[in-house]
Amino acid sequence: MKSIIVIGSSNTDMVVKTERFPKPGETIIGGEFFLFAGGKGANQAVAAAKLGGDVCFVARVGDDSFGRQAVEGFEAVGIDCHHVSTDPDQASGTAMITVDASGENSIVVAPGANNTLLPEHLSEVDFTAASLVLMQLETPLETILAAAQAARGKCVLNPAPAQALPANLLDGLFLITPNETEAELLTGVFPTDPASCVRAAKILHTKGVENVVITLGAAGAFFSDGNDHFTVSAPVVKAIDTTAAGDTFNGALVVGLAEGQGWREATEFAVRAASISVTRMGAQASVPGRREVEP
Ligand code: RIB
Repeated sequence: MKSIIVIGSSNTDMVVKTERFPKPGETIIGGEFFLFAGGKGANQAVAAAKLGGDVCFVARVGDDSFGRQAVEGFEAVGIDCHHVSTDPDQASGTAMITVDASGENSIVVAPGANNTLLPEHLSEVDFTAASLVLMQLETPLETILAAAQAARGKCVLNPAPAQALPANLLDGLFLITPNETEAELLTGVFPTDPASCVRAAKILHTKGVENVVITLGAAGAFFSDGNDHFTVSAPVVKAIDTTAAGDTFNGALVVGLAEGQGWREATEFAVRAASISVTRMGAQASVPGRREVEP
């Protein structure tokens, strides 16, 4: 299998379990506090590595204990960290996360060193050796654009957190993986059923995206390449914490594709991995190993 490059954020997640989310201005007493390794980029890199991928991570951390712990975690699952650099002037990224009784979350990120991952940090990255390059939107857009140009035709963009995107980023993407909210922001269509998924995907294809996978939460995931399309349903599970379900999905999907699995097989693999992750607390801590996901 050829390698997978993941470019993105690394955070330390500070998580409180609560019955319900506080209203604006309200203080509530929550439950247990957890400190977890997180960040969309790091979660996706760890998911891909834990699920059998050969992963190189490109990221930026601060010169502090959170950053050092994060890198130790990446190395422990076999990620190549040669392109994880340290910013001496910024703290490592952190995220304040509240998880309610249904497993739903609310997240505020303090990006810190993630904000100084710049195009210059890509200059030594060997994009030719990689089969796929996976990115999200928690690091500067100029860096994502530079990577999309350097690795045209092999870039996978998970457009999270949701934001409007320039036409020159979408044009030439191998794959985009929005959830329903992100799909609506990018296309104006909220995908609720196969017909609306097809409409949203068609708009993304028109903008130059080769393949589209829309994640639908408990309803699974939808795939389109502009000719064929299908929906993969998700197993029914009891959600404890949905944090990083999308990240697990993306990490698993790129592993399946890098291994040469077809779209249906890779999407089913990713849906199963994400379904397991929501039954556990934490981001990277909730990602299953390969054997748990095999059918
Ligand atoms: O996708 C989940 C992640 O979003 C969390 O780990 C948090 O760090 C934020 O980046």
